[in-house]
Amino acid sequence: MKALRADAAGLGRAAALIKRGGLAAFPTETVYGLGASAFDPAAAAAIFETKGRPHFDPLIVHIADLRQLRTVAAEVPPAAARLARRFWPGPLTLVLKKRPAVPDIVTSGLPTVAVRMPAHPVAARLIKLAGPLAAPSANRFGRLSPTTAAHVLRQLGPRGVTVLDGGPASHGIESTIVAFERGKPVILRRGALPDSEIAAACGLRRVRFAAAGAKVRAPGQLKSHYAPAAPLRLINPGARTDPRGAAYLAFRRKPRGEFLASEVLSPSGDLREAAANLFSALHRLEESGARTIYAERVPARGLGLAIMDRLRRAAASR
Ligand code: TXA
Ligand code: MG
Repeated sequence: MKALRADAAGLGRAAALIKRGGLAAFPTETVYGLGASAFDPAAAAAIFETKGRPHFDPLIVHIADLRQLRTVAAEVPPAAARLARRFWPGPLTLVLKKRPAVPDIVTSGLPTVAVRMPAHPVAARLIKLAGPLAAPSANRFGRLSPTTAAHVLRQLGPRGVTVLDGGPASHGIESTIVAFERGKPVILRRGALPDSEIAAACGLRRVRFAAAGAKVRAPGQLKSHYAPAAPLRLINPGARTDPRGAAYLAFRRKPRGEFLASEVLSPSGDLREAAANLFSALHRLEESGARTIYAERVPARGLGLAIMDRLRRAAASR
């Protein structure tokens, strides 16, 4: 269990580890990822094993430039090229037809590959050094996503994972995943980039969101996910609660009552700030040892939709 400073020496060691077929966790602007070479099936298998992740849930391939994009994607439809120009590097993942060089284990046998160009400078440098990286969020399967190196070490340190420490993730919530159906964008997972921005960049009034059961969807969008150690109960702000042995996740205002721990996501009601604080607040509430975590619903608009997606799945876990 090791944290490396994200300086030239640390980056060099992490890249060497990956080139030898090993894993290294690294910071991105959304959440920390657990990376391996995107072209090495054995290394991808180690990712699934280290996370305890089922093999039907494919990985995102991270690239540092458009030359690397051509090594993993066979086709880039015009709408995808537009979104890439507008939002890469950034918190956007595009689902594209894959090249044969990407092993089936990475895409769970799908004919497509999910690709993202992260904006975090440490991620960008690591990918330049080590090549395209297959990387899921660096947490045990189904648990809270990590937004700091300490979060990674808490869940994956005991499994011997090395992490490059690049400080707290600025967005704090995963990338938005977009697929293409007959040339039109379809959002598979809501994330750090709001629906409205995707629509605007494509010159559309709105972009379809693929609900469960739709033809294309993110296989990993399970009903239960992002589970804290204690059961999470979604409530409306100000609803009646029992503070004994409980923790409280508030949107804007600290709760009354003697909770074991409480966190406020954004006193000013800023959904961007709330998203950035979401997972770190949940990690702290989890560490308080509470038996129940109450979590307030946030407004269902803009980034609030992505936050509510995570909270609903966390609440569905028990
Ligand atoms: O922000 C992020 O996207 C972070 C950072 C590390 O980049 N990564 C991340 O990865 O959230 P992960 O593995 O936790 O979630 C990836 C999601 C899963 O729901 C998976 O099913 C979906 O992407 N996915 C991967 N490949 C896909 C494909 N070919 N088609 C549809 N969905 C795909
Ligand atoms: Mg994840």
